[in-house]
Amino acid sequence: MYVPNRVVTNDDLARIMDTSDEWIQQRTGIRERRWIEPGQQPADLAEAATRQALEAAGLEPRDVDLILLGTLSSQADFPGTSFFLQHQLGLEDTPCMDVRAQCSGFLYMLQLADALIRAGTHTRVLVVGCEVHSTGLDVSTEGRDVAVIFGDGSGAVVLEACDDDDAGILEVRIHSQGEHAKRLCVAAPGSGTSPKRLTHEILDQKLHFPHMEGRFVFKHAVTRMPEVLLETLGAVSLKVEDVDLFLFHQANLRINEFVAGKLEIPEDKLFNNIGRYGNCSAASIPMLLHESQQQGLLEPGKLVSMTAFGAGFSWASAIVRW
Ligand code: COA
Repeated sequence: MYVPNRVVTNDDLARIMDTSDEWIQQRTGIRERRWIEPGQQPADLAEAATRQALEAAGLEPRDVDLILLGTLSSQADFPGTSFFLQHQLGLEDTPCMDVRAQCSGFLYMLQLADALIRAGTHTRVLVVGCEVHSTGLDVSTEGRDVAVIFGDGSGAVVLEACDDDDAGILEVRIHSQGEHAKRLCVAAPGSGTSPKRLTHEILDQKLHFPHMEGRFVFKHAVTRMPEVLLETLGAVSLKVEDVDLFLFHQANLRINEFVAGKLEIPEDKLFNNIGRYGNCSAASIPMLLHESQQQGLLEPGKLVSMTAFGAGFSWASAIVRW
């Protein structure tokens, strides 16, 4: 994983908008987040995470034959961030694509990569989550509900085939519900606004900032996450008690505590890092993987359940034997 060096605390935010450390910590569990330094680009974050993942795997960029990059904060309107990353890795024609499934993006990509490897289409897939939210936030008091939540960061994994049927990705389940697309979205710039994607009126209406119906999102997250987690475990005849480690998307610590309570997951089996990084959307789960591995929680043989919910709405869960 890679996060920018610049730490933005809740007190820093309270100096530019009407909020407080107490409000943010109580409602979300977030203490600080990282924001890029001026000039840093999303692909820079993705490259730093990727190089670490490759080094840990003893691989070179050219050893990868597909790059999938999940983001909702792309470096440009087009092409996707993955193309900038591919170039920065010094690759010439390795295929790459961006996957737009917001906070569930990493798990969507796991399913896709798993299927492509099993089909024999690709042998080694780089999967990267990368977000730069800080440049797209309304940091006035009007945007405080969203601005305090999001942070910048990136995480990467390399997937390849293995012979052991009991190891690796055992199951991934993904779901979407476009009915609620507008309840958590950034409407502009997008081709849905006419006659132009970006006008002074659009800026005045702040359509280029995220719009979020927080309570509605919260309610759906705490329903869908346990649902898809159990669906995924059930598909491979496993139970909650069988799982060694639960990694939940880092949107709000209260959501995760609620879900853990509902499923009777003991505290020591749930690893969170939202307090230090905020919500890094598609990067949150690979960042959790990195830190839980560093802390010795991902020993070989451990069963890890990962679950996410996000804009779209989208939700997903994966069960992996380390
Ligand atoms: N600082 C201080 N006050 C704030 C604030 C902030 N950063 N953001 C909102 N408030 C205020 C509101 O204006 C409101 O004030 P009012 O009662 O005077 O109108 C009050 O706090 C309560 O607002 P509300 O939006 O109802 O708070 P909440 O308890 O729902 O908490 C969230 C807000 C955003 C923390 C919560 O809804 C949430 O986490 N939702 C899910 C978000 C999420 O997961 N998004 C990403 C999905 S991937």
